[in-house]
Amino acid sequence: MKTIAAFLLVLCHLDISHAWNCKEAPQLSYATQIDAGQGKVVATDKYHHAYFLSGSTWYRLPSATLKHVTVGHAGTWGVSTSDYIYKLVGGSWARASGLLKQIDAGGNLFVVGVNAGHNTYCLKTSYTLGFKGTGSVSWTRMPTNLMYYSCGPYGCWGVDTSHRVYLTRSVTPSTCASSGWTQISGLALKMVEVGSDGSVFGVNTSGQVYQRTRITSSRPQGTAWTQVPMCMTMKHVSYDLGKLWVLSNTGLVLQCTH
Ligand SMILES: *[C@@H]1O[C@H](CO)[C@@H](O)[C@H](O)[C@H]1NC(C)=O
Repeated sequence: MKTIAAFLLVLCHLDISHAWNCKEAPQLSYATQIDAGQGKVVATDKYHHAYFLSGSTWYRLPSATLKHVTVGHAGTWGVSTSDYIYKLVGGSWARASGLLKQIDAGGNLFVVGVNAGHNTYCLKTSYTLGFKGTGSVSWTRMPTNLMYYSCGPYGCWGVDTSHRVYLTRSVTPSTCASSGWTQISGLALKMVEVGSDGSVFGVNTSGQVYQRTRITSSRPQGTAWTQVPMCMTMKHVSYDLGKLWVLSNTGLVLQCTH
């Protein structure tokens, strides 16, 4: 794995010179998904184990057959292969009520997710912070259907089953009420992730990585998509604190800086 990674990266440097500089990150064999937030990095592999990165080593989180994990303001959350929802409480996974296939904890103390029917849900602050492993939580249905959903300080971004991209400018953390849904034209994405500073990155259906440029609190939609050239086909991307984490279709983990 290591040799292959180095070889591919040499090829990358040969034909591309650009503003982003990518290097091999600590490798997690058969990684399937990665999420960075609040200075932490978590990932899952094809065996549905979840991991967190410490220095250059990936450490196993408790076992729960997870297919998607997320870390952010609202804690560390995951969803299992049976779509069960878990929150990390005291170093163990505590099951919360509901069923989701993808989840994101990047919002301002709220959590969003998508279920198997592509309905979207939001968990308000009283539950994200209040859930300590017992009792139930109540998910608020949101007025849109998506297959991937991610939130940051200036709103939430999502991709629907036709790979169209949407943004809602405002989600109220205490109620999960949302407003200002708009479609962002230009790209067909398979996933989109919002960083804790509001940066937005996505992977198009061909596996190329894009950044939405010039996002500000008064212009949450940004102005344009610019490509972050990658010489491999990518499946997942996540951004936090100046570091872009990219996962190739073959499971290689790259870390890029601007
Ligand atoms: C994805 O982006 C690449 C690079 O710009 C482009 O060549 C490709 O056509 C795009 N794929 C789709 C489906 O638009």
